[in-house]
Amino acid sequence: MDNSIKNIHSYYSPNDLYNKIIEGLNTLGIDLSDVTPDDLQPVDEFHIRGDTATNELIELAGFTSDMHILDVGCGIGGSTRRLSHETGCRVTGIDLSDEYIDAAGRLTELLNMQDRVDFHACSALELPFDDDAFDGVWSIQMNMNVEDKVGWLKETCRVLKPGCKAVLYEVCGHKNTPQIFPVPWAQDASMSFLIPPDQFRDAITSSGFGISAWNDKTDLAAQAFAKVQEPVGEPKLPALGVYMLAGKDISTKAYNLRCNLEQERVSLIETVAVKPQ
Ligand SMILES: C[S@@+](CC[C@H](N)C(=O)[O-])C[C@H]1O[C@@H](n2cnc3c(N)ncnc32)[C@H](O)[C@@H]1O
Repeated sequence: MDNSIKNIHSYYSPNDLYNKIIEGLNTLGIDLSDVTPDDLQPVDEFHIRGDTATNELIELAGFTSDMHILDVGCGIGGSTRRLSHETGCRVTGIDLSDEYIDAAGRLTELLNMQDRVDFHACSALELPFDDDAFDGVWSIQMNMNVEDKVGWLKETCRVLKPGCKAVLYEVCGHKNTPQIFPVPWAQDASMSFLIPPDQFRDAITSSGFGISAWNDKTDLAAQAFAKVQEPVGEPKLPALGVYMLAGKDISTKAYNLRCNLEQERVSLIETVAVKPQ
C-alpha cells in the first residue's frame, strides 16, 4: 500500500466497530433477534441523503432478483443490504477497510441475509473477480478517496458483463477550489481527490463506458445540509451514527460539507454508465 492509501485505510478503521453498533442498538432498546435495515440506517448508509438516495438509486438501477451485483466501496454494507432487501438480487460488497468489512459481514448475519449478501476486503483498483462476472455494479461515494479515477473505472468495467450498467453516486469538485477540510470522507486534502463533473464524465467515457443517465443532485445535497450549524463545545452524539465510522468530529465535517456545497466547492452526481455489448 502506498502512503496515501495507508492513510485512507487508517481513516476508515475504527476499533471494535461491530460491538459498538450492537451497544448502540441495545441502548435504543432494539431487539437483536429482530433488527431491520431501517434500524441500522443511522449508521450503515454513510453517504449524502442516506436511505432516500439509496432508494432513488434502486429505482434508477432497475436491478432484478436474478442478478448478481457488485457494490464497490460498500462501507459497512447498508446500501448493499438495502439493494438486496428491496430487489431480491444477490449482492457482493467490497471495501478497502477490513474493520468495515468485518462489521458488514456480522451485521448481515444479524439480519440473516448472508445467503444473498457477502463481502470481501480489497481495493477497488484490484478486484479479485473474473472479467464479465457481474450483472451490475454500484458505487456510492467512494471516488473521493481514489486518485486514479480511470484505473478504478476500467477495473469496474472489466468485471461487468457487456451491455450491463454501473450506477455511480459520487461527490465531485465544482467551480471553486480548494475544498474546506475536514469533511466526512477525509481529514485533510491528502486523502481527497475531487475532480469537477465534466472531468468525471470524461474519465467514465475514456474507461470504456457509455453514459445513459446523468443527474446533478447538488441542489438536493445542499438542501439536506442547509440547517447544519457550526458545532460549539462538546458534541452530543446519538446512540447510533456515522460518527462511529468517521470520527467524533462528524459535526464539524458535516458543517464543512454544507459550506463546500453552498460555496460551489463540491457537487454531487448520480450517473448510469453502460458497458458496450
Ligand atoms: C463515504 S464511505 C461510503 C461507504 C458506502 N458506500 C456507503 O454509502 O455507506 C467511502 C468508502 O469508500 C471506501 N474506499 C475508499 N477508497 C477505497 C478503495 N480504493 N477501494 C475500496 N474501497 C475504498 C472506504 O473504505 C469507505 O468505506
